[in-house]
Amino acid sequence: MYPLRRNRRLRTSEAIRSLVRETIITPNDFIVPLFVVEGSGIKEEIPSMPNYYRQSLDLLGKEVKELWAMGLKSVLLFVKVHDHLKDNAGTEAINPDGLMQRAIKTVKDACPDMLVMTDVALDPYSSYGHDGIVGNGEILNDETNVALAKMGLSHAQAGADILAPSDMMDGRIYEMRTTLEEEGFLNTGIMSYSAKYASAFYGPFRDALDSAPADIQDVPKDKKTYQMDFANRDEAVKETLMDIEEGADIVMVKPGLAYLDIVRDIRDAVDVPVAVYQVSGEYAMLKAAAAQGWLDHDAVMLEQITAIKRAGAHMMASYFAKDVVKLLG
Ligand code: PBG
Repeated sequence: MYPLRRNRRLRTSEAIRSLVRETIITPNDFIVPLFVVEGSGIKEEIPSMPNYYRQSLDLLGKEVKELWAMGLKSVLLFVKVHDHLKDNAGTEAINPDGLMQRAIKTVKDACPDMLVMTDVALDPYSSYGHDGIVGNGEILNDETNVALAKMGLSHAQAGADILAPSDMMDGRIYEMRTTLEEEGFLNTGIMSYSAKYASAFYGPFRDALDSAPADIQDVPKDKKTYQMDFANRDEAVKETLMDIEEGADIVMVKPGLAYLDIVRDIRDAVDVPVAVYQVSGEYAMLKAAAAQGWLDHDAVMLEQITAIKRAGAHMMASYFAKDVVKLLG
């Protein structure tokens, strides 16, 4: 067909490139993860996540107002709890006056229209750093589901809009959905981490929350019996379809960049919105390379975010959310 068709014609200027651009990033694409700690006046940088912070509740209100003003309208809350509150069953997770429950109220008080999503998993509350209850050297599936459903209910009662179970137990979406229905929380949504892989990219996050699996006898050293094997692709679709049947409103793939084949498979297979979590290790890699002067931070950030959306994400949980929105201007 050459020279009748010259593809470069559509690349000759920024004007024509922007006219034919297929993927556009806007503030509407983002969910902002926030790390919350006890205390007051605390804004501490996470060492392996430069320019990302754990903040106390008194600063959280200001933070969410700033996000809202930037057009960022969804947050995903995580809490770092004191060691003395941790046990195997994650009992503190359902304390109506616990840190998460107060954080939800703080965000809603400061910014009533902000969409509040909450992490539902036992690891920040677990003395063993596991997402579920440990027994007989393994993670107990069904007992954990009961605990997660109670935890989710407690978040809903505190005012959470969407529960985000990040644990990968079998059947937890069903358990959570039926509990919410029975208790009258018909409009509380569930964003399921449906295809979550056992990934070494979560390292900096576990530093942030002090939630890594403990090195204790008879406690599994990793999360490979519940999180997925990164060698598997078809399994991600199976996991995700099951979560939708169980009542998930939004499904998620995690991590992001190394899993874009999975994102596209799932986008093609489902009829619900697809979220992608661009995780802590992805953030840390770029920050480190940029600090060395080896990569152009803003250019690579935008390229990565665009790639995730292009692969099929309707929304992205990303530590770069503020940076990207500032860059977009
Ligand atoms: C745990 C949880 C993890 C992340 C979100 N929820 C870590 C893990 O599974 O060990 C990781 C997020 C990130 O790395 O940014 N329920």
